[in-house]
Amino acid sequence: MRLLAVLWTLSLLLKEAQAWGYRNGIFHNSIWLEQAAGVYHRESRNGRYQLTYKEAKAMCKYEGGRMATYEELEAARQIGFHVCAAGWFDHGRVGYPIVKAGANCGFGKVGIIDYGYRINKSERWDVYCYNPTTKECGGILTDQQRFIQSPGFPDKYQDDQICYWHIRARFGQKILLHFVEFDVEDDTACLADYLEVYDSYDDVSGFAGRFCGDYLPQDIISTGNVMTLKFLSDASVTAGGFQLQYFAMNASALSQNYTDYFH
Ligand SMILES: *[C@@H]1O[C@H](CO)[C@@H](O)[C@H](O)[C@H]1NC(C)=O
Ligand SMILES: *[C@@H]1O[C@H](CO)[C@@H](O)[C@H](O)[C@H]1NC(C)=O
Ligand SMILES: *[C@@H]1O[C@H](CO)[C@@H](O)[C@H](O)[C@H]1NC(C)=O
Repeated sequence: MRLLAVLWTLSLLLKEAQAWGYRNGIFHNSIWLEQAAGVYHRESRNGRYQLTYKEAKAMCKYEGGRMATYEELEAARQIGFHVCAAGWFDHGRVGYPIVKAGANCGFGKVGIIDYGYRINKSERWDVYCYNPTTKECGGILTDQQRFIQSPGFPDKYQDDQICYWHIRARFGQKILLHFVEFDVEDDTACLADYLEVYDSYDDVSGFAGRFCGDYLPQDIISTGNVMTLKFLSDASVTAGGFQLQYFAMNASALSQNYTDYFH
């Protein structure tokens, strides 16, 4: 009994260590939870706390969603959605969801930290959007193999896209990413448009590469059974887009020549 309890606590701790992290100074949890709840946090491309109410609303709408309501934010919080950054949500209310009490965030409280309905809609905050049906642009993928492509492929992708694909293979499997076509707006540091690959189930840890331009990236093999891809395009210049294929590989297959998978 006691051993079981210890193991259970250990597994919780491990999960917790994987699911939480810092990104751009914001402590948050995995995008998997964000997508499960349909609620997600966005900040301006220019950084934190830059969006007026009108701009915040437009950002959610652009991605095919809308601003989250208080109830949706709370429902997401209850399954673990925690972000330490104040954002607009429905009807000009501002706040953020806190799951774990911390001294540096949320005044040590747990719940929606509510700044109330703002009278001045020109104030600048982040935003909480709601979109339960991410279609072509991102999603949670559990198939053993499939294609992933930029929105609209083989046509050019649009400006201002943000897509997350979360690949989840079976426990013990690894994931092989094989690029088929690649053409993303080129700039030296890949700051404008890019595809990022994370060897992890969020975009916080396990950074494995950022790609732009028209060189076909090399195959990438995960260390575990999950991977996250993030595609982002800015407000100007698009390109042909990309297509890649992933394969969930059995551990036993790893010693083989894996190019057999796509020949
Ligand atoms: C509203 O907020 C903006 C941004 O903080 C500020 O510049 C402006 O003076 C405020 N307007 C009023 C009427 O307080
Ligand atoms: C991987 O393992 C599963 C279960 O053992 C098996 O059904 C499947 O055929 C295997 N796939 C490949 C590609 O070897
Ligand atoms: C794997 O197979 C490919 C194509 O069949 C071949 O070109 C390559 O040399 C092989 N690699 C190894 C390490 O055997």
